[in-house]
Amino acid sequence: MCGIMGYVGHRSALPILLDGLRRLEYRGYDSAGVAVLNDGHIEVRKTAGKLAQLTEITSGPGLLHGTVGIGHTRWATHGLPTDANAHPHSDCGGRVVVIHNGIIENFLPLKEELQARGHTFRSDTDTEVIAHLIEEELYEARSPSVPLEEAVRRAVQHTRGAYAIVVLCSDQPDRIVAVRQISPLIIGLGKGETILASDIPALLSHTRDVLVIEDGEMAVMTASGATVERLDGATVAKQPLRITWDAEMAEKGGYPHFMLKEIHEQPRALQETMMGRLDAPGGAPELDGVSYSPEFVRGLRKLWITACGTAYHAGLVGRWVVEHWAKVPVEPELASELRYRDALIDPQTLTVAISQSGETADTLAAAREARKRGTRLAAITNVVGSTLSREADDVLYVRAGPEIAVASSKAYITMLVALQMLALDLAVRRGAVTPPQTAHIIQAMKALPGKAQEVLLRESEVASLAARLADREHMFFIGRGLDYAVAQEGSLKLKEISYLHSEALAAGELKHGTLALVTPGVPVFALVTQRHVYEKTLSNIQEVKARGGLVIAVAYDRDTEITKHAEVVLRIPDTLDDLAPVLAIIPLQLFAYHVARERGNDIDQPRNLAKSVTVE
Ligand code: AGP
Repeated sequence: MCGIMGYVGHRSALPILLDGLRRLEYRGYDSAGVAVLNDGHIEVRKTAGKLAQLTEITSGPGLLHGTVGIGHTRWATHGLPTDANAHPHSDCGGRVVVIHNGIIENFLPLKEELQARGHTFRSDTDTEVIAHLIEEELYEARSPSVPLEEAVRRAVQHTRGAYAIVVLCSDQPDRIVAVRQISPLIIGLGKGETILASDIPALLSHTRDVLVIEDGEMAVMTASGATVERLDGATVAKQPLRITWDAEMAEKGGYPHFMLKEIHEQPRALQETMMGRLDAPGGAPELDGVSYSPEFVRGLRKLWITACGTAYHAGLVGRWVVEHWAKVPVEPELASELRYRDALIDPQTLTVAISQSGETADTLAAAREARKRGTRLAAITNVVGSTLSREADDVLYVRAGPEIAVASSKAYITMLVALQMLALDLAVRRGAVTPPQTAHIIQAMKALPGKAQEVLLRESEVASLAARLADREHMFFIGRGLDYAVAQEGSLKLKEISYLHSEALAAGELKHGTLALVTPGVPVFALVTQRHVYEKTLSNIQEVKARGGLVIAVAYDRDTEITKHAEVVLRIPDTLDDLAPVLAIIPLQLFAYHVARERGNDIDQPRNLAKSVTVE
């Protein structure tokens, strides 16, 4: 977790660092800090709390001269979120400063050794050991003429764990050195300036040409660019990647919150995800980045789907469509469980790892474990050049654009469509669907962006319902089949930003225990888009009504029957049942958003959470 920034160039570093940190705050926001090189010495300012507090303590002309600096926004792993534990961390002499995203697993023995050699520690973090290790390499064991990059290289050899580490030294003021092992690191190449960040949106207002630093690589940044080499000394020839997102796309665009903006961007995100991929009439989707062979697809015995949180919920929808269309058995498993399971993954399987960021530690670990067992690895991700995308055999980008709100919306919906395209591709290649069936599905998929837009036009009804229910303590979401998968995502969305207790249940399970919690007035959202289980779900609705529960249905426009059973009906346009999740989730996202707003919560940065969870 954590967001990191670095700048070396001709402009004042401080405003650039603060602006970048603001865009990275979704990665953690319990404390923040900057270090700027000012007239030959390093000035550090850091504080517990959000970035606004850092902005306050750095205002005034003091730090503005410096044209080289680093900055950090933290999500605590080791040590409470206090001023002292905020990054940057310094060596004993204040000549070296370090920021870090990740965990140094062996920091305790290192700290003890360093203390025994006379180093003074000022924080409880794992990070601080790095500053002292570099100090030893630069000033104690070696001569001061050791280049900073050499000292960093030697220092990190003592560490174990995950990191993106960025180092500044007052005696070598022309450069910033950064190393990466697992945690993401991107370098933007500008005119006479070089900027570093954990993620692309923080760079976009300065440049679109970026270098993606890989595991085991070290970058030396100066105002004229960056050189990259491996930590073992081998040189790396890296080509810059051109990013097509613009800075405007990463901003709020007039909405009060990123989440609402991102919910409203869903029609466009859906369209872009399908663009150019569903144009062969009645034929297989054209999935750029997916290159499994016809023999592999024919011999495929099973699909594993692995992910966390919302991405996992998308995977549950993926299971349904792959089994239904392609007739391949699918096992979805939470990434944090899969990697510790004795899962029977073999070369005749395809493991689909889904991750918006492509950096989630659990998902990466599960994907790597699956690969060790011989599977072919396919990634569904939003971030070009992310770790997951680089490690996978096949990559299907969802093209949602930057997602800033911690609560995922447009990434989820585009994951659904990506999974539908993948399922259809497997189905066509395995001869499990006919060309007319394929054409029918594709036609319905292409209508989804317009229908999603229709759902968004009904936002005011959802907002009124939210105002009515915002003071409740518990809510339930029920559904069968694909409706159950959507219920799980609707429930997570609500918990995440409204802080209400909610629970999703397979509708048929309600009577096996949880029904005891349904008392008069308790809201129960019932999703009823799946025709083959429609009547069964109606019976479950009756069980709720008989206990006085308040039933809110999510149903098709064509469903006239449902008004006899539900007190409130949130409508979605008609579509194929297999595609319904793409539309059915939208009123639930809006409901969660408006409840959170009614309750005055911090919607884009909900408490205790972070956008990209890069620790296990
Ligand atoms: C979604 O609203 C959550 N913030 C969270 O569950 C998220 O989906 C999960 O952490 C996985 O992230 P990823 O897609 O970047 O891997």
